[in-house]
Amino acid sequence: MSKNPRHIAIIMDGNGRWAKKRGLSRIEGHKKGIARIEEITKAAVEQKIEVLTFYAFSLENWRRPSLEVQGLMLLLKKFLIEKRELLKEEDIRLISIGEREKLPKSVQKELNKTEELSKNNKGLILNISLSYGSRQEIIRAVRKIAEDAQRKKVKINKINERLFSKYLYTKNLPDPDLLIRTSGELRISNFLLWQLSYSELYFTPKFWPDFQKSDFLEAVDDFKKRNRRFGGLSAKKNN
Ligand code: IPE
Ligand code: IPE
Ligand code: MG
Repeated sequence: MSKNPRHIAIIMDGNGRWAKKRGLSRIEGHKKGIARIEEITKAAVEQKIEVLTFYAFSLENWRRPSLEVQGLMLLLKKFLIEKRELLKEEDIRLISIGEREKLPKSVQKELNKTEELSKNNKGLILNISLSYGSRQEIIRAVRKIAEDAQRKKVKINKINERLFSKYLYTKNLPDPDLLIRTSGELRISNFLLWQLSYSELYFTPKFWPDFQKSDFLEAVDDFKKRNRRFGGLSAKKNN
């Protein structure tokens, strides 16, 4: 039988090209892009998804022109404040992964507050990846494990996949079952490299600001038709 994904991760890409096509500024594209998050989040709640992860800003994105970065930070801060109502209504818990100490203080403050306000909510976990890079996350984990080994908190022969996962930002989350990337780019761009080992990948040419509930449902339906083998043999007889 087809199985619902527990965790869906989305690389929201194509805001800049969406804007360019319309003769608008890149920031207009980001504005439109951030405004798409609510509809997709509500669709995920309806579909009884447990975790929805959005890649909103990568560590590499800090290299962009400072005006674009500043504009994005303002939009993200606004999002974190404005969506508190939605989180409450829909019983959604907001969390964030990434190097938050690199974010402007005012964004950190609103992020901490939104997390705190929603921490007891029991429905969907809405995970926003901010200032996130996967290789950097893995290096951070290695350093922490080495420190714990030095302090004799970890035995070297006890280091395995399960223990390693506990040192990642995603320690309390299941791995994504489905990764969606918009805008036609066919790459991972330093996102959840460890966690995506056996995720199903779904690419669509649509730019993120054009991605709607119907597109999301199409991706979920496509996922349900997939036959996941995890290196073994098919468990399904009819699919
Ligand atoms: C995704 O859209 C949003 C972020 C990376 C912050 P882009 O800004 O990458 O849009 P394109 O890829 O240039 O069209
Ligand atoms: C990935 O998109 C990061 C986010 C969507 C936040 P990018 O636009 O930064 O990725 P590349 O540069 O095309 O690989
Ligand atoms: Mg891009």
